[in-house]
Amino acid sequence: MKLDLMGDLHRTHTCGELTKEDVGNEVVLMGWVRRRRNLGGLLFVDLFDRHGLTQVVFRPDDDPEIFARAEHLGAEYVIGARGEVMARPEGTVNTDLPTGEVEVHVAELRVLNASETPPFVMEEPLKASDELRLEYRFLDLRRPHMQRLIEARHKAALATRKYLAGNGFLEIETPILAKKTPEGARDFIVPSRVHRGKVYALPQSPQLYKQILMVSGCDRYFQIARCLRDEDLRADRQPEHTQIDMEMSFVTEDDVFGVAEGLMTAIWREAAGVTIETPFPRLTYREAMDRFGSDKPDTRFGMEIVDLTDLLGETEFNVFRSTIEGGGTVKCLNAVGCGGWSRGEIDRREALAKKWGAKGLAWTKPVDGALQGGIGKFFSEKETAAVRERAGAAAGDLLLFVADARKKTNEILGRLRIALRDDLDLVPEGRLNFLWVTDFPMFAWNEDSGSWEAEHHMFTMPRPECIDLLETDPGQVLGRLYDLVLNGVEIASGSIRIHRRDIQERVMAVVGITSEDAERRFGFLLKAFDYGAPPHGGLAPGLDRIVMLVTGEDSIRDTIVFPKSYRGISLMDGSPSEAEPAVLDELGIRFVEPPDEESRDRDSG
Ligand code: AMO
Ligand code: AMP
Repeated sequence: MKLDLMGDLHRTHTCGELTKEDVGNEVVLMGWVRRRRNLGGLLFVDLFDRHGLTQVVFRPDDDPEIFARAEHLGAEYVIGARGEVMARPEGTVNTDLPTGEVEVHVAELRVLNASETPPFVMEEPLKASDELRLEYRFLDLRRPHMQRLIEARHKAALATRKYLAGNGFLEIETPILAKKTPEGARDFIVPSRVHRGKVYALPQSPQLYKQILMVSGCDRYFQIARCLRDEDLRADRQPEHTQIDMEMSFVTEDDVFGVAEGLMTAIWREAAGVTIETPFPRLTYREAMDRFGSDKPDTRFGMEIVDLTDLLGETEFNVFRSTIEGGGTVKCLNAVGCGGWSRGEIDRREALAKKWGAKGLAWTKPVDGALQGGIGKFFSEKETAAVRERAGAAAGDLLLFVADARKKTNEILGRLRIALRDDLDLVPEGRLNFLWVTDFPMFAWNEDSGSWEAEHHMFTMPRPECIDLLETDPGQVLGRLYDLVLNGVEIASGSIRIHRRDIQERVMAVVGITSEDAERRFGFLLKAFDYGAPPHGGLAPGLDRIVMLVTGEDSIRDTIVFPKSYRGISLMDGSPSEAEPAVLDELGIRFVEPPDEESRDRDSG
């Protein structure tokens, strides 16, 4: 088809704008041809742009030549149309559509561009594989659904800027070509051409820079910051993600929580039109693990983990008794209403629990006054009554038990709780359960390396009563660390920081960083601490996850316009791609053969 130039045709309205008020006016619309219908000798085209769609009508009687050209318009052609706004005839009004009362009768048509036949039909529900969508992302993003996500993200970012600026925060950019900032993932590195053999690291977060900005007296900093981490991807993890990174001087946890709760309120109000309740409840890490078996508990439903250890120390059931004698715990979940489960259904959950490391998953069913089936027969009358009462068990329920070390028992029942949530559809619609989890342990023992590791990052201030345990009992040291959780997803993480060299060096020593190492890797931070670092703390909400939850998506992938596939590839542009030999030469880099599959899998753990 012959294409036209836009020429003097100038768009007067978007495709989502026209109403009855405009009837009789001449307008010019521009957009994409989405649907075309030939009805009773007339041609109807849904003309689409990100604002909406307007029906434009071609009538052979008006202009046979325009009509003939319109007959050849294909899907996703770009057109400009001048014409008069008319009220739709009685019975053809579409009340679902803001523009549904009108149509435009076309007097002038300009075909501004043609389109190949799209690889998928641009209609909901979309029938296209994820791979195809990512390859043709420019088309995928043209869909109203994706446009809504883009807009929601924009609104969340705008609400963030407005709220934080209104609360005395300065937006400050920090380097992308940076010194390594450890957050527990691998770094992406950028070789320096000028300084052969040296590299910049892409920041895993602006953590060290924002702390230094506090030393510089900036008082309240924020940045909508890109963070780059070479890690294995999941539904809620991308190699590039965006944090609403914040830091504040002279604050306690309550100050940070107050700002964060205000920020979440603003984001949900602006991006979703939803009012959320503050203040958010708080749980310590210990309580979260004991009751929900997770450091990011989904509190939208009950089914909490029930501790039976003190009731079953003398039980006849050998596994439980010996576990308790050995210092372990016995806990259960009351799967409310699952008393009708078959052995097969129970066995399936036992297999799951075993996959997660359980030694077994004992069970029994409450019936009138008793516990029947499974291990019920081992319980004395007193134990039966006590277990039933503690678990709140009634006829028709099913009790599922794990006996093991406390941490392992919690983790397994926590995972089982989430599996039951999904199997039994336990979450009521529309809940937004925000929750602070506080007082995380600072260090975890790594069996493989035989050393302590920082649970979050090592710039967190230990709780005051724990500082003197740093050298004697690192496993008992709690940090002034907090996570913000929403519906079982960790959406933000932060801490009150160390602002003194002496404490920072002691914490680094626990994770095996010698003073020479510390000087080499973090000397600039320690030096800054020597020049009047104020007490400070902060937080970093993950914007991608927030937009995912604001929009009800179940992956962060569609909250990012150009994401990577699960294998870390950008299917649209094909990155990562081969490096040009000349570029490598200039950098002084030579690649060796890639490792075989097996060793690569091993390396990426
Ligand atoms: P952390 O590493 O916990 O903390 O990250 C903060 C928040 O960022 C989000 N997030 C991610 N989102 C998508 N893909 C990823 N790969 C990814 N990794 C993290 C999560 C998480 O809660 N510097 C500290 C923050 C601080 O202490 O102030 C930090 O980066 O929502
Ligand atoms: P057994 O006596 O080994 O036949 O186990 C009886 C029941 O107890 C089975 O349902 C096992 O799955 C369960 N079981 C065994 N060990 C444990 C454990 N450590 N915690 C919970 N249940 C267990």
